Parts: sequence; structure tokens; C-alpha cells
Amino acid sequence: MIPATNQRPGPTVLFIFGGSGDLNLRKLTPALYNLFIEKYLPGQFAVVGLGRSDYSDDSFRERLLDGVKKFSRRKDGPWNEFAPCLSYMQMDASDATAYHLLSDFVDKKEQEWGERPSVLFYLAVAPQLVPGIAENLGKLDLCTDKAHVRIVVEKPFGHDLKTAQELNALLGGLFAEEQIYRIDHYLGKETVQNILALRFANSLFEPIWNRQYIESVQITAAETVGLEGRGGYYEESGALRDMIQNHLLQVMCMVATEAPISFDANEVRNKTVEVLNAIRPIDPSNAVRGQYGPGEVDGKPIPGYREEKGVDPESATETFAAVKLYVNNWRWENVPFYLRTGKVLPEKATVIAIQFKPAPHYAFPEEASKEWRANRLIIGIQPNMDIRLQFQAKRPGQTLAIDPVEMVFSYKTAYEGQEPEAYETLLLDAMTGDATLFMRADQVEAAWKVVTPIIENWDNTKPADFPNYTPGTWGPEAAMKLIENDGFHWTTK
Ligand code: BG6
Repeated sequence: MIPATNQRPGPTVLFIFGGSGDLNLRKLTPALYNLFIEKYLPGQFAVVGLGRSDYSDDSFRERLLDGVKKFSRRKDGPWNEFAPCLSYMQMDASDATAYHLLSDFVDKKEQEWGERPSVLFYLAVAPQLVPGIAENLGKLDLCTDKAHVRIVVEKPFGHDLKTAQELNALLGGLFAEEQIYRIDHYLGKETVQNILALRFANSLFEPIWNRQYIESVQITAAETVGLEGRGGYYEESGALRDMIQNHLLQVMCMVATEAPISFDANEVRNKTVEVLNAIRPIDPSNAVRGQYGPGEVDGKPIPGYREEKGVDPESATETFAAVKLYVNNWRWENVPFYLRTGKVLPEKATVIAIQFKPAPHYAFPEEASKEWRANRLIIGIQPNMDIRLQFQAKRPGQTLAIDPVEMVFSYKTAYEGQEPEAYETLLLDAMTGDATLFMRADQVEAAWKVVTPIIENWDNTKPADFPNYTPGTWGPEAAMKLIENDGFHWTTK
């Protein structure tokens, strides 16, 4: 994180439910491996993968090594030194009688290491399994140790406000809030954390970061990929729940928050939840949904969403969503925030565009500035990690001509080496007990409240025009109108 302390974790046992699953393979173990290489992990460290599949420690390690070779930012390295930390325990998570094995493992490590380790239970499992596992964990004496034991819960956190409240109530009855780490991996991204640094480590931006100077804000999270085999999950989710309720609203909170007085976890979260609470109830006419049909991208045929495996041939699930929001407070009153996300769009790009108001008086002759544009600050979250300030400059020469130009800060040219993956940051934070980048119960619920009017409207009205966009395009026509009717244009540049 934006390290409040730069703490290093002490002895730690990390249990991963869903140990043989995709998330561990693609994200968690590669993240741990990179933390190991960079010497962030404690010397006394054990990871136990839990699952129903049959693996020996060795075959489990081999599987994870395959994952590292495919998905880690570092593929080579001292794997043989890291691998002994990893082991596998075959366990049916619905079998309450098996859980004592976890306490036994921790006791054994305590004896071996001569110190009580911190224990992390990482629930990388399907959402319907979370309550059962949490209940079984909650019965372990071990879990009453608030200082040392934490539970990490992946998204989706609930399916709507009601189910999120129920899950919060259940977890809250079993664990203290400071033990519950709800993941939103966007908050672990370097560039997302840097929004706070940009705003609050500089004196330049903050005075103009308000309704007097900013005309609108856009946040785009565009993906070129489709479902990647996740039809079953996505059918129940859709773009609004999958991306806007969590990732995009959290990024928006970073852009819109008031300055925290410190980087204490609760202080930062108090401030960001205020943004969510200040969002004006969304008028459903300010939300657009889309679903891609069949098409072709780069000469390759793309099946329509409804033809994907696990998808209802008459599915009403949206693969694209765009929303216009307002934050009702002194800083942002009447400044529109436009959020959009979608699958199978023309480029992979997560970008924030801050549009400033035009210069109040333009003295230059019209012919001098054919391409005149108001100032914009573009914050590239991924894959381009950069910040670009767009402004007007005089083209050199004897004729007066004003053109838009850019001042660029790029991570690639400014820093050597690779930036950490979001999961590296988040795992390390969970190990050290820094919850700043994790969602608190009230944050998750506030985010669900924001999207509830849209969910209700969309549940009650079947989309008559689905599928309504072609693969490789920027979504349905109505998404363009949403912003163009206000005189703006979507941009990722
Ligand atoms: C996940 C969503 O939370 O985020 C996926 O479930 C999406 O559907 C992914 O593809 C995007 O994450 P990133 O880090 O690749 O932008």
C-alpha cells in the first residue's frame, strides 16, 4: 500500500481455500513468489493449499510452478528455495470435523518456530461456499485471536445489497471487523494508489480539483477479452456487478475523496465511504447496458455472448455498462462522473479522464486554433501506466497557431524495474495487518446502495435490443449518447 508503516510480516501461515483453483494458480502463488524473491516474506512462512482434489505436496508444487511459468511477472528465479514453503492438504471444506487440522497445523508451526504465527485464511472459492467455510472457521478457538488471525474474502461480495448485508452480518458475528479483509484488487494497483499521491503529495492539483475547474470526470475500464470460460459466474453477475459496483466505484472514490488526515486504514476508508454516501440516487435513465453479439475481431470470428458456454441463449445479462453519477457535496455538486466498462471492446484500457473547464476568454484568432481543446488530465491505470496533462501550446513559427500538446509522466521511463502486481501488495498488506486497501463492511454496502436503482430497473425490464453491440466496438449507441448529449466524448487518449 501507500505504506503507513512499511512494516514487514512476522511468522505467517497462509491457508488458501480453493488452493488448486485458478486464482491461486494465476494470481496468488505468482504474487507470493515475487514477494519471496524481493525478500518481503518472513523467513518463517508456510502456505497450505486446501481443496478436494488429490495432490501430494510435490504434485501441488508442480502445478503451482506451471502457474508461475505462465502467469508470474518473473518466471525464473529461486523456485526451489521457495517451494518448501508450499504444501497441500486435501480437505472437504463442508466437513466441519476436518477444521481441527488447521489448528493442529498452526500449533505445529508455533512449536517449530517458537513464536505464535499470524494466520490468514484466504477464501479463493465460489461465493456460495464462503458462508459455510466462515462458519466452520469461526468455531475454531484460534480465530478469537484478533491480533493474529484474519480472513480474506474475494469478490463478489454479495449479489446485491441484501445479500451483502447478510454476508456482513454473518462474518461480523464470527470475526471482528478488523479481522475481515474484503478484496477489491483494483485498490492494489500501483496506479490506483498513485491517485492519492498525485492529489495529496502535490500542492498543484488540489486547489483546482473541484467543481469550479473540473467540468466532468470519466472512468473507462475496457477489456478486449470475453468471458474466458467464466460463463456460469458471469451470467449471474454482468458488467454492473462485476466491475462497476466494486472496481470502478472504488477508483472513483480515489478521484473524488476529500484529503485524509493520515493514512490510517479507517481514516482513508472513512473518507472514501463518504463519497459513496454522497452519490445522488441514480436515475436509471442515466445507465446504459449492452450485450455483444457475434462478430469478428482481427479476422477472427467471435461468438456472441449468448453462444458462450454456460450462457442462456436468451440471456439478459449485460456485458457492457455505462453510468452517469453525481456526487452531492460542495466539491463536486453537478459535476458528472461517467463510468463505463465492457467486454470485447476495441482495446484493453483503464483510464481516468479529468476534463477541465475551458479558458474563460479566448483572445486568439479563430484560425490560430483549429484543434482547440480544454485542458485534460489523463491518468492511465493500465496497461499504459502514465499521467498526461494535455494543454495548448504555440506551434513554433511565424504564423500564430495553437495546438494541443502533452506533458507526460510514464512509469516505464521514470522508474526502472517492474511494478508489483496488485495481489502482491494486497497479500503483503493482509499479512502485516494493514487494511487500508481492503473494503470495510460499510463501504461494500454503500457501493451496493449506489447501484441498487439500476439493478432494480434492469431486473424489471428485459432489454428489448440485446445483443446491441458488435465485438471490437465501443458498446451500444446509447452509451455514446449518454455522454454526447452533455457535450462530451468518451476518451482513453
Ligand atoms: C475481475 C472481473 O474482478 O476483474 C473480471 O471479475 C475482469 O471479469 C477483471 O476481467 C479485470 O481485472 P484487470 O485487473 O485485468 O483489469
